[in-house]
Amino acid sequence: GYEPFISFSNFHLTSEIIIFVFLPVLIFEASLSIDVKKLISDIRPILFLAVIGLLISSFMIGGAVYYIELSAATGIGFVVCLLLGAILSATDPVAVVAIFKDLGAPKRLAILVEGESLFNDATAIVMFVILVGILTGRAEPDPIAGTVDFLRVFFGGLVVGYIMARFFTWVISKMNGVPLVEVTLTIALAYLTFVVAEHFLHVSGVVAIVIAALVIGSHGRTSISSEGWHLLEATWENIGFWANSLIFVLVGMSVPWIFAKFDATMWKAFTVLLVVAFFSRALLTHVLLPLISKTGVFPTVSLGFRTVMWWGGLRGAVSLALALWAFENKDITLEDKNFILPLVCAFVLFTLFINATTVASVMKAFGLDKLSAGDLAARDRTVEGALREVSSGIEQIAFANAIGPEIAEPVAHQYEERIRALSSADNKGAAQSEDDWIKFGLLSLISQERKIYFDDYAQGYIDPEIARDLISLADEVLDAVKTDGMDGYLAVSTSALQFDWRGNTALFFQRRLRLVGPLTKYLSTRILALQASVGALAKIKRDGIEQIKTLVGTNNAVALQELVENRLKITESALGALQAQYPDYVSAVQNFQLRQITLKREHQKYADLFDNAIIGREIFNNLESEVNEKEKALSKRPQLDLGLDPISLLARVPIFESVSSDKIEAIAALLDPELAIPGDVLCTKGDTGDAMYFISSGAIEVNTGEKVVTLGSGQFFGEIALLKETPRTATVTAQSFCDVLILRRADFLTLLDGNPSLKAEIETVASERIANWDIN
Ligand code: CMP
Repeated sequence: GYEPFISFSNFHLTSEIIIFVFLPVLIFEASLSIDVKKLISDIRPILFLAVIGLLISSFMIGGAVYYIELSAATGIGFVVCLLLGAILSATDPVAVVAIFKDLGAPKRLAILVEGESLFNDATAIVMFVILVGILTGRAEPDPIAGTVDFLRVFFGGLVVGYIMARFFTWVISKMNGVPLVEVTLTIALAYLTFVVAEHFLHVSGVVAIVIAALVIGSHGRTSISSEGWHLLEATWENIGFWANSLIFVLVGMSVPWIFAKFDATMWKAFTVLLVVAFFSRALLTHVLLPLISKTGVFPTVSLGFRTVMWWGGLRGAVSLALALWAFENKDITLEDKNFILPLVCAFVLFTLFINATTVASVMKAFGLDKLSAGDLAARDRTVEGALREVSSGIEQIAFANAIGPEIAEPVAHQYEERIRALSSADNKGAAQSEDDWIKFGLLSLISQERKIYFDDYAQGYIDPEIARDLISLADEVLDAVKTDGMDGYLAVSTSALQFDWRGNTALFFQRRLRLVGPLTKYLSTRILALQASVGALAKIKRDGIEQIKTLVGTNNAVALQELVENRLKITESALGALQAQYPDYVSAVQNFQLRQITLKREHQKYADLFDNAIIGREIFNNLESEVNEKEKALSKRPQLDLGLDPISLLARVPIFESVSSDKIEAIAALLDPELAIPGDVLCTKGDTGDAMYFISSGAIEVNTGEKVVTLGSGQFFGEIALLKETPRTATVTAQSFCDVLILRRADFLTLLDGNPSLKAEIETVASERIANWDIN
């Protein structure tokens, strides 16, 4: 019959639940918030600790425990001990990261700790699976095969995770920004990636999840609407919290059972475990890491950081999940299970009770909770500026609240005292040189610029791909400023304005294959990006610098102002150059952009009215669907029309003026329009010529070897080789962007036969040119 609580009464925590429900969530959530750029700059020490370090630590722990157990004659095998070592070498950052946040730890320290723990979780799990395979007799205990398997599984996972995440990013970008759908899709991504990697491709699901989450957290960010992103962060934080808590609940429930298992041998094993685990970690952080840093392979990590990494290497949910997973495995003997689970739980609890509660003191001992000298100086100036503003308003506030001067004056006086104390401390300390202040100011301006792009994107004013380009450019500029200061700022931002390989490829497609699509895409993207840059820079010039004036000092603010103005000018002239080449298209794109922005604002306006309860749901829905319609209609960028239609081009070549209008069309059909860019060689001296050219617009240079002549709009060249059946008499190069009309040899003959007057005219010009050579 019907059994309402069947699912509860039969609820068992199976290994499937642990791996399929908890692990993907834990790993995905932890990876999502990592700053990939920072991770990459420290990726070498992180991977060293997470892969090599984990292997060393697993073998040391495993070996030591095995040795103890051997002497106790309990019959626990080496592979089981190694399994224990792997489980216990996976660090968990959750608790430490919370402490870091409280103490304001340096960002790099947090990245080192989090990055290591993510990748060592992945490594530990790969190793775990291989070892369980050996234990249950599904794999041979062969070190070489094991290593090969490890590499295949690890790197396979990397690739799968990347591909899955890129695919999902694409799908999400097609979702038109419905936040719930976007978030749901990332949850599906986490689980699907895991299942696809683990079950279908037999590579590491966890490594795949780490990479997938990193991709979503960096690249995917601009494919997700900004509301979606907030919801996504909150949702994942929540899910991660639940997964973590549930695992601890499960362990908490088994604590009495665990301690019942602790007899003398277990205590002995546990003590050895503790000593070896901390010793092997110290070996990594305090011996191997600095040694390798000395060779210059790794960036150096300070003693303070390393000590925190050592002591803060807590073990948590992932170790527990792995131990539970082993416990659930039917092929592992009960004796082995009763050995692994209690030790892991005890160890996790130890690190939580002892390390987690004391790591803050370690940080304080190394002064890692304090601001750097530069930050401190900036902090002082921030406070000073704020105090000045507040103190100047005191009188007014007092007046507005009918508070008498006898009360207001002492308060104002207190503020003045504080300001005086701060400014004198600043003069004494002079912790920052003027260059440092400029750098500080620049970094702040670039961060503002970045934020403007993010906001523009969030408002829907710029497309995700443009936002992505601009933000990653801002990041590049930021890095350049960090290393080269002001020079870096201009160097990187100017070089980004060059017509790059993408532009040249697009031109190639347009000119050689007559595909105008790539060029349309490139030009429109470029115009929109330049437009957004100009907007952002103008805003920074207007408000941004004013805001940091008190921080960096007036003189430095002037220098920064100049720098930003320079960059604005260069950016504007890049836009101007495009405007000169493609005037109609730039106008079309600008028109498109303006209409898009106004439509978004209209949309926002309705949403505001609805939010403020001024209009009801029915009206709002109606308006919204109308705006959505319009937005859809406006989603396509304008088509690029290069104006290369032969008839209009012909009109600009005087020699065809005499031709009657009924013949013009026949002639136009014979002519092939083409766009030449500066530097294009149209004829090479000595080559056989198979076409002549009419210049509709632009300038070209004729070089006969002895003589250089410039020809411009309305003129033609390449006729001598056709008329006289000779090789090309000169090399012709485009000097600017030119619209030329090409007339092939066969068509040339047809055309001249039908138009004697044209023929005469061309022949005259050719003879004049030939005569011209002799004069010289
Ligand atoms: P062709 O010899 O087919 O290829 C090179 C072209 O350069 C040639 O035709 C003329 O059109 C052009 N050219 C050669 N000499 C002169 C000149 N002195 N002035 C202008 N154009 C020239």
